[in-house]
Amino acid sequence: MNALEVRSLSYNYPDGTPALREISFTLAPGERVGLIGPNGAGKSTLFLHLNGILPERPARQAAIHVCGVPVQEPHLSTVRAKVGLLFQEPDDQLFCPTVEEDVAFGPRQWGLPESVVHAKVTEALQRVGLRGYGHRQPHHLSHGEKRRVCLAALLACDPEVLVLDEPTSDLDPRGRRELKALLQSLPVTQLIATHDLELVVEVCPRVLLLDGGRLVAQGATRELLADEDLMLKHGLEKPHILSHFHPHW
Ligand SMILES: Nc1ncnc2c1ncn2[C@@H]1O[C@H](COP(=O)(O)OP(=O)(O)O)[C@@H](O)[C@H]1O
Ligand SMILES: [Mg+2]
Repeated sequence: MNALEVRSLSYNYPDGTPALREISFTLAPGERVGLIGPNGAGKSTLFLHLNGILPERPARQAAIHVCGVPVQEPHLSTVRAKVGLLFQEPDDQLFCPTVEEDVAFGPRQWGLPESVVHAKVTEALQRVGLRGYGHRQPHHLSHGEKRRVCLAALLACDPEVLVLDEPTSDLDPRGRRELKALLQSLPVTQLIATHDLELVVEVCPRVLLLDGGRLVAQGATRELLADEDLMLKHGLEKPHILSHFHPHW
C-alpha cells in the first residue's frame, strides 16, 4: 500500500486563484521525495491538502489517501495522527506558553500517561538539538530555533509520513547539517518542499517538480536536477553539487 497517494487533485482558492491542477503522484512507504518549484508553484497549497486543512469544503470524492485512509471526514483525526506537517511559517504552528507544552501537545491530547509524554518530549527535543529548551518561551526563540521546536512537536507524535515545508530556511549551516542527518536517519516516509537543492540531492532519491500548480516533471533527483534546460525553464538552477567533483561523495 502507498504511504501517500494523490490522484487528480485540483484546487482554486476562494478568491478564484487557481493553485493546483490535476496533480497525481504516489510515495512508497519509507521513501524520501523532494518537492521543488518556484515561488507560487503550489507547494504549500498541496501540503495543506495532505492532512485536510484544505479544501475549505471537502469534495465528495477524496483525491488523497494516506496509508490507505482517505483524507476526508470522518477520517481526519486518523489522518492527522499519521501525517506530521511542518508549516512553512513556524509561528502558524506554535501556540503554547512554553516549548515543553508545544512539543507535548500531541501526545497529551491522546491521553498518554504523563511519564510517557515527558519521555517523548525529552527525546524529541534532543533529536532536534534543543535539549534543555523545554521551559523557554517559543516567541522568544530565533526563527531557526522555532522551526526545530515545530519539528520536535511532530516527532513526539511518531508520524508515519512527514511533510516538511521549507525545513531548512532560517537554519544556520550547523543546524542545516544536523537536520539533514536527522532526516536521513528517520525511517518514516518524507515529502520535503524546499529551495535547498543540495539538501534534495543528499536526502531525496526522487523529486517532483511543480510549476503553475502542475506537476511538470518527476524522476530520479540526480537526473532531473542535472537537466539545466528544465531547471531554468521553471525558475530553478542546476545545483553546484552536481557540477563539481565532490570529495565527500
Ligand atoms: N490564501 C490564499 N488565497 C488566495 N491565493 C493564495 C492563497 N495562498 C496562496 N495563494 C496563491 O496560490 C498559489 C500557490 O501558492 P503556494 O502554494 O503558497 O506556492 P509555493 O508554496 O509553491 O510558493 C500562488 O499563486 C499564491 O499566490
Ligand atoms: Mg510555500
